[in-house]
Amino acid sequence: RRGASLTDLAEKIGVEAASLVQVLFHLGEMVTATQSVADDTLEVLGAELDYNIEVVSPEDEDRELLESFDLEFGEDIGDEDDLEARPPVVTVMGHVDHGKTKLLDALRNSNVQAREAGGITQAIGAYQVETEVDGNERKITFIDTPGHEAFTAMRARGAKSTDIAVLVVAADDGVMPQTIEALNHAKAADVPIVVAVNKVDKDTADPTRVRGQLSEFGLVPEEYGGDTQFVDVSAITGQGLENLLESIVLTADAALDLRANPDMPAQGVAIEAHLDKGRGPVATVLVHRGTLRIGESIVAGSAHGRVRALINDQGQNVDEAPPSMPVQVLGLTSVPGAGDNVLVVDDDRMARQIADKREARMRAAQQAKASRRKTLDQLFEQ
Ligand code: GTP
Ligand code: MG
Repeated sequence: RRGASLTDLAEKIGVEAASLVQVLFHLGEMVTATQSVADDTLEVLGAELDYNIEVVSPEDEDRELLESFDLEFGEDIGDEDDLEARPPVVTVMGHVDHGKTKLLDALRNSNVQAREAGGITQAIGAYQVETEVDGNERKITFIDTPGHEAFTAMRARGAKSTDIAVLVVAADDGVMPQTIEALNHAKAADVPIVVAVNKVDKDTADPTRVRGQLSEFGLVPEEYGGDTQFVDVSAITGQGLENLLESIVLTADAALDLRANPDMPAQGVAIEAHLDKGRGPVATVLVHRGTLRIGESIVAGSAHGRVRALINDQGQNVDEAPPSMPVQVLGLTSVPGAGDNVLVVDDDRMARQIADKREARMRAAQQAKASRRKTLDQLFEQ
């Protein structure tokens, strides 16, 4: 296990921890019995003792932990017969200031952009928009991501928990470094991309140039014989917004099978979390499957609790959140990490047990990292 100590290992293979300390000493490593040991050291030790030591990845370890509670996180969206259509989850990505937040504001008649510090998005926001396509009411879930270069991890995460990526490129500015970065995240996550060429209201806008530039990166517009939809839009005048929504719905219907069973214990992912002065830990959760309800026991990463309130993207209290709906969840005992998985479990006790185990593991991993740094420092002192 990652972050294991020599005492842990000694117990596993039935030897004295002290002799392992000695073996390592002879190999030139000073490690105490209770200290957590780096993966490569464990492997060296294994080779020396003729043991095949495999270090379990954190993902595998978490899977095992959940399995021990008869739980599984991930792919299972329910039996074929119980599946119902769910809205597509669409992540809006692109270079800083190209108008992602403004575009979402225009789509949902809000004004998030004006409230942001310096007009720069620093956290992931999630919203639902309703639109009519071919006479049918359709919901789309949007995830806003920051374009500033400092937020690579957030963009990568955004691309992972999405069905479709909307790549926003300002028509006056053209393709820029984070445009390419976002494009690569979307490609790596293997999600279909719709390009929104924004700011076409500007005198200096050159939407044709954007098409040419992106073609060089493999996004060839349909009108040039490729298979990527490009939609010219303006978040200021509202031009093209209907077309953009339609393109998204068409892409979802053509390329994806978006269904989930709303009647199973909810699972999802925390896309953002923070500590609110008045309300305590608040996590924005995107539900993947099942329906999350008030009163349920949940575990979110190494946080746990009972759902005290659910708040939708309009700030209204709701009783439940079905698949693809982002909600703020109140009632956690601590703040989970962004990207942590969220599961409804049988009861508070189970939630706490899982959370405690994850917490202990995280601490061990941190310790292992710190002790590795220490050994390196000692090395340089000599
Ligand atoms: P980050 O989240 O920091 O990456 O920026 P962003 O992509 O969300 O850009 P944002 O929505 O904050 O817009 C940046 C600036 O561009 C703001 O001043 C907007 O008013 C302006 N803007 C956005 N869309 C348009 C548009 O369609 N036309 C014009 N003229 N200006 C726009
Ligand atoms: Mg923004």
